[in-house]
Amino acid sequence: MAISTRQFDAVVVGAGGSGLRAALQLAEANLRVAVLSKVFPTRSHTVAAQGGVSASLGNEEPDNWHWHMYDTVKGSDYLGDQDAIEFMCRKANEAVIELEHYGMPFDRLDNGKIYQRPFGGHTSNYGERAVKRACAAADRTGHAMLHTLYQRNVRAKTQFFVEWMALDLIRNQAGDVLGVVAMEMETGEVCILHAKATLLATGGAGRIYAASTNAFINTGDGLGMAARANIPLEDMEFWQFHPTGVAGAGVLITEGVRGEGGFLLNKNGERFMERYAPTVKDLASRDVVSRAMATEIKEGRGAGKDADYILLKLDHLGADVIDKRLPGIREIAIKFANVDPAKDPIPVVPTCHYMMGGIPTNMHGQVLAGSKGGAIVKGLYAAGECACVSVHGANRLGTNSLLDLLVFGKASGEQVVKDLASDAVSHQELPKDAADRSLARLARLDSAKSGEDVAEVGAEMRRTMQLHCGVFRFPDSLAEGVRKMGEVGKRAEQLYFKDKSKVFNTARVEALELENLVEVAMSTMVSAHARQESRGAHDRSDFPDRNDVQWMKHTFWYKDNNRLEYRPVNLKPLTVESFEPKARVY
Ligand code: FUM
Repeated sequence: MAISTRQFDAVVVGAGGSGLRAALQLAEANLRVAVLSKVFPTRSHTVAAQGGVSASLGNEEPDNWHWHMYDTVKGSDYLGDQDAIEFMCRKANEAVIELEHYGMPFDRLDNGKIYQRPFGGHTSNYGERAVKRACAAADRTGHAMLHTLYQRNVRAKTQFFVEWMALDLIRNQAGDVLGVVAMEMETGEVCILHAKATLLATGGAGRIYAASTNAFINTGDGLGMAARANIPLEDMEFWQFHPTGVAGAGVLITEGVRGEGGFLLNKNGERFMERYAPTVKDLASRDVVSRAMATEIKEGRGAGKDADYILLKLDHLGADVIDKRLPGIREIAIKFANVDPAKDPIPVVPTCHYMMGGIPTNMHGQVLAGSKGGAIVKGLYAAGECACVSVHGANRLGTNSLLDLLVFGKASGEQVVKDLASDAVSHQELPKDAADRSLARLARLDSAKSGEDVAEVGAEMRRTMQLHCGVFRFPDSLAEGVRKMGEVGKRAEQLYFKDKSKVFNTARVEALELENLVEVAMSTMVSAHARQESRGAHDRSDFPDRNDVQWMKHTFWYKDNNRLEYRPVNLKPLTVESFEPKARVY
């Protein structure tokens, strides 16, 4: 099939916060930049981020980036790379002020400064007490941020390809990335986007789990593309379960509720977090709170007729505070839980929320070719949730995700501008088979006469992940999970549309997305099975303790034969003393 080719200086895949922040850097440098998005940019999943973006502005009480860095290192359960964490925390204030100057409608204090609220794991004076560090626009911070960045990109004349899905990376013999093959979702037209630089900003992949706060678009497309192009995925065993997803619905209830003074109760009306985290209680880091909730439910102290959820109480804040600071939460609770939180507690459960791992990068967004030596994949960059820098290690602190995408979105954009200016990357001749892999994937889907239903295979993958790789992990169950995911993977190679007369391109998109999700799920299961310790969000019954002697290292998973490699954690910050691993208590 003859397919058209379009040339750009840079192609950005994904129009969430990191994609838009990177694209802005490129467009303002007068580069020809194309941004591909499966949805209209302001519907990207960043729009769902609620509680805030972290920065130690100290608008309400003393704070500084070193405390923020300490909290992030501790929150990561010492798996985060301390150079990258220092870089992010030092840049936080500048990133937020820059956004303010772009017109972001933050809430304000009476003195006009940006409003800040406490969030889990953020403390003053190295763990002494909770600190107000989350800069918020009510409980719609991501919404405000995404619209601000989008408008700024429109001003900078960024070119958007809306409702386009990237299918595969194009690599030449040398392994350099020369762009992507993409499909227009409405027409099914396949096109080569030939670029000097390709930046993946495809966000999360939380749809590998049955219960997820993630949008349906979060299917790990960048990770699937990377895996198929022989690029490893890092630290995929670490998935964050947000403590407060609406029970049965999965929709996020921001940690900002607890930041504003809400708290969790078991069926006996006990504020149980006082037992698990005596200092900061409900504002401990998410892995700690989610495990405590799951333990309460497991031990029979869950609420409801099946004793299977926890209660989030906030009526004592009063309707005025709720309407001013948490209006979206009130709406969500009424619509999805049939509860008015100004009167009654919201039923909540730990729900898959965030992928700490991803495509390995350095601090400048350059994608790493492997676990050894820091060699990069020329022409390829990644930022945001799809990337692993690694600043979140084994557990991310709330509000550090929006910060991550601002800081590393900008840093990767700056690196692309620099690489283009120095001709470190340039247009190279496309290989003759540039689009073959994508065309073969589409042809197989369209020509299969029998096989597996997309929805059924997807449901089996989500069941497997939920059952075998959840908040608590067990050795036999993980081994069984690896076996089952092998079967799911084989079934996903045989996808077929039963009634071809009814196939619209959305069905093809779902099948292609499932192929990406399966790579993510497989890498997660295999990496989790191999890591024989408990750290952050990875909790194993057979290895209940953190093992700093053997496991202070990052996992690198490769698609070929589920091969694993490891690289030591970087404990050396850029300019300050290291934070040495110690017991993690809140
Ligand atoms: O709870 C929240 O508002 C989520 C924030 C985050 O994941 O950073």
